[in-house]
Amino acid sequence: MQSLIIFFFVVGVCSSAHLPSTFQKCSRNKSDFRQCLVKAADNCVSQLNHAIPSAGLINLEPLEIPFMFIPPGSGPTRFDQNYTDLKISGLTKTKFSTLDVDFDNKIIATHFTIPELVLNFTYDVGGKILVFPLSGHGPGLIILDQMVCNYTCHFEEYVKNGEKYFKITRSELLMQPNSVHYKLDNLFNGDEQLGTQINKVLNDNWSDLYADVKSGYEEAYNKIFNSLFSIFFNRVPVSELFG
Ligand SMILES: *[C@@H]1O[C@H](CO)[C@@H](O)[C@H](O)[C@H]1NC(C)=O
Ligand SMILES: *[C@@H]1O[C@H](CO)[C@@H](O)[C@H](O)[C@H]1NC(C)=O
Ligand SMILES: *[C@@H]1O[C@H](CO)[C@@H](O)[C@H](O)[C@H]1NC(C)=O
Ligand SMILES: *[C@@H]1O[C@H](CO)[C@@H](O)[C@H](O)[C@H]1NC(C)=O
Ligand SMILES: *[C@@H]1O[C@H](CO)[C@@H](O)[C@H](O)[C@H]1NC(C)=O
Repeated sequence: MQSLIIFFFVVGVCSSAHLPSTFQKCSRNKSDFRQCLVKAADNCVSQLNHAIPSAGLINLEPLEIPFMFIPPGSGPTRFDQNYTDLKISGLTKTKFSTLDVDFDNKIIATHFTIPELVLNFTYDVGGKILVFPLSGHGPGLIILDQMVCNYTCHFEEYVKNGEKYFKITRSELLMQPNSVHYKLDNLFNGDEQLGTQINKVLNDNWSDLYADVKSGYEEAYNKIFNSLFSIFFNRVPVSELFG
């Protein structure tokens, strides 16, 4: 994940920024602050099909991740999942259902749903799935439907050039998809019959397989979301975000 964080931070090196004029702003003084934030967040992500470097925001369509490692689980998913040149599509369709900022306890808590997340990558897998040996390297696709996410982050405030900023200190992510579809090409060095069979096992058993490595996925995506939010908070002062 080290390379991931460095990769993101390259974009956001300089100082204080204003939100783009196309972004909806919310004032914490207004009674509709909570509802306003939900709408503003939907609106913000929907615009990220291009980068907005001035606000430390990168293009999310697709989001490109050089490398992701999901370690084996302890149940049916006893294989390494290594993804390189991962392209994640669908984040700009994210719909927020709540977004609460607790200024006193310094916590941001949000629930959101990503209707369809499409992952396109080169994979390396090795280990065992259920009782079957599994190995392979090649191009692949994973589609996650209706991914429901709860993301909570704790922040601290600091002052830079006379302006107050947030800094994320730790965060938690819970993620549950409604279904997962796998397509791993070239499993077992291109053995068509075994490859087709294992893809069927993956797809038929997605729920147990996902549950087994859920925390690995959550950890990986938590790091991704953290990097994205950290650059944003590092660039945009609190007054600009919340009035
Ligand atoms: C928000 O309210 C506080 C006090 O409740 C006041 O000091 C501040 O000026 C207000 N800010 C805006 C942007 O209205
Ligand atoms: C995955 O990405 C590669 C490289 O950009 C592209 O050639 C390929 O068509 C994509 N695969 C799918 C199924 O979208
Ligand atoms: C996946 O990556 C990890 C860490 O880089 C490495 O230890 C492991 O051997 C790799 N597994 C496969 C199947 O390539
Ligand atoms: C998110 O939180 C809500 C309410 O706190 C809960 O009902 C839901 O199951 C959680 N979702 C996930 C994916 O853990
Ligand atoms: C796993 O997949 C296999 C092959 O498709 C299927 O026969 C089996 O019932 C599935 N197991 C579970 C626990 O769903």
